[in-house]
Amino acid sequence: MSASDIAGLFKKFGGSPAQYQEITQAETEKASQKRWPSMFGGKKAAAEAEAHAEEPDEQPEVEPEVTPPAAPVAEKPVLDAPVAAPEPLPAPSKKPSSKTPDAWSSAGLQSLLAKLANEAKAPATPEPEQPSEPEPEPIAVAQPPRSKPELSDIKVVAVVSGKGGVGKSTMAANIAAALHKVGRPVLAIDLDPQNALHHHFQPEGEVSEEQGVVRFEQDWREQAVPTKDGVFVLPYGLGDEAQRRIFEAQLADDPLWLAYRLSDLELSEGAVVVIDTPPGPSVYLQQALAVANVALVVSLADAASYTALPMIDRLIASYTDERDDFAGTAYVVNQIDPSRQLNKDITHVMHGLLGDRLIGRITRDQSISEALAYNRNVMDYDPHGRGCRDILDCTMALVGYFASDDEGA
Ligand SMILES: Nc1ncnc2c1ncn2[C@@H]1O[C@H](COP(=O)(O)OP(=O)(O)OP(=O)(O)O)[C@@H](O)[C@H]1O
Ligand SMILES: [Mg+2]
Repeated sequence: MSASDIAGLFKKFGGSPAQYQEITQAETEKASQKRWPSMFGGKKAAAEAEAHAEEPDEQPEVEPEVTPPAAPVAEKPVLDAPVAAPEPLPAPSKKPSSKTPDAWSSAGLQSLLAKLANEAKAPATPEPEQPSEPEPEPIAVAQPPRSKPELSDIKVVAVVSGKGGVGKSTMAANIAAALHKVGRPVLAIDLDPQNALHHHFQPEGEVSEEQGVVRFEQDWREQAVPTKDGVFVLPYGLGDEAQRRIFEAQLADDPLWLAYRLSDLELSEGAVVVIDTPPGPSVYLQQALAVANVALVVSLADAASYTALPMIDRLIASYTDERDDFAGTAYVVNQIDPSRQLNKDITHVMHGLLGDRLIGRITRDQSISEALAYNRNVMDYDPHGRGCRDILDCTMALVGYFASDDEGA
């Protein structure tokens, strides 16, 4: 099903008018800007800071200077010996394809792996037509009742996957920490009711049960948790079931809810927002993709993750097609075990199909899961380990994606 078909379905479903709730920030803005000047330092903040410059008691706190680290020392992972060419690559367009290449089926994967095993040199013959898998049910999305606010000063990365447990939260947290290390102001938002993202960081002070996006009526400047890693984190929060249902209804009713919340924050220029999402289709994924400049798909190097990729690719296409500010989809293969040939082969096949859209190959590294046990990110926990190097490489490739997006703009 093409993106235009899906857009047609959305029109058909229609929706009720949005009930976007304007949040009055006049009372809290000044205090928040003083508290976190570098993160929430938008234009209005800058003007206000100037107005108060002569008042001796109102000096803004100075955020510790960020020293970008030297370029990652890790060598780019080098692929093994060349293998038989897989199915013709999708055009190296950054836009996700709404068509599903046959190679993405499990039979296609078997065929590509067989070619690898045989080290066949002959050009690939066309794969037999595979029965197409059932189309996922599109999510009914209300027509946007208003235009999307301007977010061109910031970059938004939505971390997504078709399957659960692949390492989205781990990647979101560690990439957020790495982005801060290379000098970007970073806000990490947990849009997953599992509420796990903030566990990857060391908060400055207590995280109250009241803090979280699930309490959608509250001011995010008060909700964001400053962490020792320099990243500001907005937890999902600990609302009860009723609160969660109300929140999800609000999100379904107003597809631009997150866009307006981000706009209201007036984040400083160059800030990056990293959004963690639940696996598969959801109102959270829809909200994240409505503002994302880059969708970062996390996958394992196994057959189940591999065959789930077309589903998430179609979802991304349905929410980002026709948006000029969407730079494209990037992919990360996570938890690669170099001692397992199948892991290496599937990674190799994916590289053949995705080309430079595969921006990360992350080794399975015990330090990554251990870091979580201590509320740390791996850069802090094991800065010289393989997992840390892989994540820094991936982060630098992501920054390159931002740069190419700016050039194309
Ligand atoms: N590269 C890695 N090396 C070792 N362990 C990893 C790696 N990446 C993730 N893990 C571990 O895998 C488990 C699942 O990771 P995570 O919770 O980030 O997945 P997820 O995709 O966010 O899951 P869900 O879909 O439930 O939200 C965690 O225990 C995490 O520590
Ligand atoms: Mg998660």
